[in-house]
Amino acid sequence: MSLTYFKRYQMELELQQMVTPTPELPPGYRFVPWCDDDLNKHAEIKFLSFRNEIDANVFSCFREREGCQRLLREITSRSNFLPDATWMLEYESAPGEGPQVVGTIQALVDHQQRGAIQNIGIHPDHRDQGLGTSLLFKCLIYIKARGLQRVMLEVTSQNIGALRLYKRLGFRIIRTVYKPAPVTTF
Ligand SMILES: CC(C)(COP(=O)(O)OP(=O)(O)OC[C@H]1O[C@@H](n2cnc3c(N)ncnc32)[C@H](O)[C@@H]1OP(=O)(O)O)[C@@H](O)C(=O)NCCC(=O)NCCS
Repeated sequence: MSLTYFKRYQMELELQQMVTPTPELPPGYRFVPWCDDDLNKHAEIKFLSFRNEIDANVFSCFREREGCQRLLREITSRSNFLPDATWMLEYESAPGEGPQVVGTIQALVDHQQRGAIQNIGIHPDHRDQGLGTSLLFKCLIYIKARGLQRVMLEVTSQNIGALRLYKRLGFRIIRTVYKPAPVTTF
């Protein structure tokens, strides 16, 4: 099996330097706090958000619904899982239409006592209207409320949009790592 290596950046944010206030959500959108019963909803929107993106080449779990369910179970069963900082985003086009899940974010606390953001994803049809920024802010506010002072995340260097979003919020690159992944042919 041949391997390829993806360049990834570890990024960090000092929470005192967080730009506030939280941007408002556009009409029809609402945040939904973490609840165990919603695990499969988080997994489904994670799958829809990541399956055609660069990170699906880096992490094979993003290419399948079951992989995303496994990943969610793994994250949310850890003793360092932060349920307060884990959110879903729903959209309802008109009252009574029924909500559609359009975004997810999860967080852990790492061994350096930093918040660790896991896999923010917004459905492709709902991007570029500030939702990713709002969802990330929502998560950061709750990490800060826990008394943690720093937050970290990892992003693939080719993920230009995500990298720009993180830099805009004040994250800075602290380390470069290389993640091996099997070469895939689609
Ligand atoms: C990364 C991701 C979460 C960003 O979500 P998003 O909702 O598009 O994010 P935002 O809308 O907040 O920011 C994206 C752009 O919209 C712009 N924007 C922000 N507010 C806006 C508004 N009110 N109206 C229009 N555009 C807006 C931003 O300026 C930004 O532009 P930029 O590309 O020049 O930086 C999304 O692209 C995604 O799910 N990607 C696939 C999964 C992934 O790679 N996740 C990251 C893993 S590390």
